[in-house]
Amino acid sequence: MTRTLNPTKEVRGSITVGGDKSIAHRVVLISLLSQQPIDILNFPDNADCLASLNAVQALGVQVEHQDDRVRLQPPASISVPVDTIIDCGNSGTTARLLAGIIAGSNLEVTLAGDESLQSRPMQRIIDPLTAMGAEFFADDGHLPMRIRGNKLLPFEYTLPVASAQVKSAIMLAALASGCSVTVRETVAARDHTEIMLEAIGEGITRRKITPVPVPDPVDPRRKRMQMPEPFKREISLSAQAKINGGTVNIPGDFSTAAYFFAAAAIARGRVEVRNVGLNPTRTAFLDYLKMCGCTVNIANKTVVSGETRGDVTVTGAKLSSRKIVAGNTVNLIDELPIVAVVAAFAEGTTLIRDAAELKLKESDRLASVSENLTLMGVKHGLLEDGLAIEGGRDFSGADFKSCGDHRIAMAFSVASLFLIGPSSIEDDEIVRVSCPNFYELLDEIAR
Ligand code: S3P
Repeated sequence: MTRTLNPTKEVRGSITVGGDKSIAHRVVLISLLSQQPIDILNFPDNADCLASLNAVQALGVQVEHQDDRVRLQPPASISVPVDTIIDCGNSGTTARLLAGIIAGSNLEVTLAGDESLQSRPMQRIIDPLTAMGAEFFADDGHLPMRIRGNKLLPFEYTLPVASAQVKSAIMLAALASGCSVTVRETVAARDHTEIMLEAIGEGITRRKITPVPVPDPVDPRRKRMQMPEPFKREISLSAQAKINGGTVNIPGDFSTAAYFFAAAAIARGRVEVRNVGLNPTRTAFLDYLKMCGCTVNIANKTVVSGETRGDVTVTGAKLSSRKIVAGNTVNLIDELPIVAVVAAFAEGTTLIRDAAELKLKESDRLASVSENLTLMGVKHGLLEDGLAIEGGRDFSGADFKSCGDHRIAMAFSVASLFLIGPSSIEDDEIVRVSCPNFYELLDEIAR
């Protein structure tokens, strides 16, 4: 449906958001490999996570799901007919992580998805998983994709793209097959799989490479810091690594909270999101808001199920523009559409570079953001790997396009609150992919 959105006078409030989508996918999919039942607290009821829940159920996990609690009872062994097709819906994380598990199991399964998921690249997991010994039958590296699992070989891999999904697919394949693996990353992508393996499993070790002082080639009396290895982190799973089971309590989804923080930032208001995930590989958006001039306060910081969480309050201010380049983009990759909206209201030109990965998300997010910024009347440049956005005020209401992408719908719904006159967003139901109650939450904070 098309939803009308009106400008707001004030942004203020304290809310909670549903459980973290990335963490929820992992705990559900990992249940396929668990020795004992897994209990999940604060499970989000979004379409993506339900796709993972349906997938494991189709593979034999017994699922009891009531409100935000889920109990997963793994099967003694997984066995399904070779013509089994699993629909991953819109969810890239379901498809890529499950592909890893199937690759390392004695199974032959086809993964399918909606039109958006069929357009997303799978070659990035097919290459390493094939090198480990699995067989893939996919048209040009896209879904639908048939996977024939196998007994995999010990493997070492340096990730060519900073992708938590690729990293996780390889680790889960090794775990399913009982072979050792070492994955190296040059840029540290989100580490929820590693944290979960530490929290409810065993056999994982992590090595963080720290820079060492070396003589400066120009002036040897001086030192400069240099990485001793060409990578930043190394994760190893032994052949004995396993999932024991237990309880996973999921923190609120930081990527969902980001829309409400952005609203506070633009309105010069104040929003608190309680019990939200604060894994440092996810929170670069808070650093960005601080650099723009906002104040960020964190209270009640604790670690539960290995993940840091807390109550975060963002207070908005007059915003100034910033540059977002390599090294930063990966830790706010899902927040870049809402960064673009904040940038539209910040003084000066915001430059986002090294973000070509955005073209490969639920929509081509560089193109989708650009299209909607144009509708709003924001001057900007669409670059090969990013955007240059000239900030301003007094933009007019517009008829925004969701582009079949939940994050685009949510980002430009937030923008609508600060435009002159009403706006609309078509296909507003797309928010169900990650945050079905998005508009109720927006109503709570925007008055
Ligand atoms: C995710 C990793 C990121 C992110 C996606 C969720 C995950 O994708 O954009 O929304 O849960 O591992 P990539 O691994 O492709 O960067």
